[in-house]
Amino acid sequence: MKQYLVTGGAGFIGSNFIHYLLAKYGSEVRIVNVDKLTYAGNLDNLKDVANAPNYRFVHGDICDARLMDELVPPADVVVNFAAESHVDRSIGAPDDFIKTDIYGAFVLLEAARKYGVKKFIQISTDEVYGSILDGSFKESDRLEPSSPYSASKAGADRLAFSYFVTYGLPVVITRCSNNYGPCQFPEKLIPLFVTNALEDKSLPIYGDGKNVRDWIYVMDHCDAIDFLISHGDDGQVYNIGSGNERTNLDITGIILRELGKPESLMTWVPDRLGHDRRYSVDTAKIRALGWKPGHTFEEAMTSTIRWYRENKWWWEKLKTGEYLEFYKQNYKRDL
Ligand code: NAD
Ligand code: DAU
Repeated sequence: MKQYLVTGGAGFIGSNFIHYLLAKYGSEVRIVNVDKLTYAGNLDNLKDVANAPNYRFVHGDICDARLMDELVPPADVVVNFAAESHVDRSIGAPDDFIKTDIYGAFVLLEAARKYGVKKFIQISTDEVYGSILDGSFKESDRLEPSSPYSASKAGADRLAFSYFVTYGLPVVITRCSNNYGPCQFPEKLIPLFVTNALEDKSLPIYGDGKNVRDWIYVMDHCDAIDFLISHGDDGQVYNIGSGNERTNLDITGIILRELGKPESLMTWVPDRLGHDRRYSVDTAKIRALGWKPGHTFEEAMTSTIRWYRENKWWWEKLKTGEYLEFYKQNYKRDL
């Protein structure tokens, strides 16, 4: 039986990954999920598996070395999702990004080195490369992160690599593009716009709306991580993406059409500071190993929009209180 330590497993991608593992491997895996339950951590994401005999939740912080000394030793595989993940928040208050994304990764890597973990997956991001107007970044391209978020992720990405070079820790680093799917906190573009549209609220478009992201369905990302746990080479970086590049205006149009809402909901707001124009990754390296995404953009977007429409209970309670205050203070507008 393979033992996994999943960090940040109560968040968007981590919780989908836990579902993925349990659905695919059943009782062949044992999973411990350690999560600090920040505003983005949500145990509703794991309600259906909370009592599974081979799954355990631990409320804790990856910066807590004593706790990591307890949780890391039994694990064969550590998958580090835990992070502060929202670019806009990193612009307003970078502190927690430095703490969790860099120092937290360091604490985990130290424990993994001490206890001889067999695989350490560092979930990095395509944002570490920065923006690219033409072509796509390869894994060997230099990193030019532009926000405190992506700079903190780049720090952890390279720190993980250094643990391979210096100590021989079997590290694999993934750099995935923008994910979409169920259980994404409604501050990110797609869940924010879908839930706002469902409530007939405005959709705040930054700048000219022509920034481009490559959208991948979250389960394809989970599948790629699982694939790399078995097939990825130690010390290597792998880009992950689907090749579905869309402007933010394209995404907005799809959401409005799918929900039958008017274009008048679109509102133009000042641009994000340091807003990266386009992200694009070359995924030839992982494809050469035999991996490819299993979902089409059209079908997965439709099912994602349907999920938010049918699961109001999940997001309605998130769009109140502290979250609303954050928006009022940072953007001088209501949602
Ligand atoms: P998320 O914000 O939804 O989830 C992050 C989780 O980490 C939350 O459950 C939170 O409670 C937990 N967490 C935060 N600080 C912690 C700490 N100190 N100790 C333990 N847990 C802590 O983020 P996400 O979108 O699911 O992203 C997961 C990972 O994937 C991140 O590392 C992110 O950088 C990376 N990534 C995200 C995307 C994307 O499109 N969302 C794309 C590529 C890479
Ligand atoms: O590329 C991978 C990254 O994708 C991950 O590493 C990050 O964790 C994840 O948050 C995401 O970062 P982005 O900044 O690309 O995602 P976000 O959903 O915040 O924004 C997507 C695009 O939409 C971006 O160009 C900004 C724009 N946008 C976003 C919001 C929230 C708007 O126009 N209006 C909005 O209200």
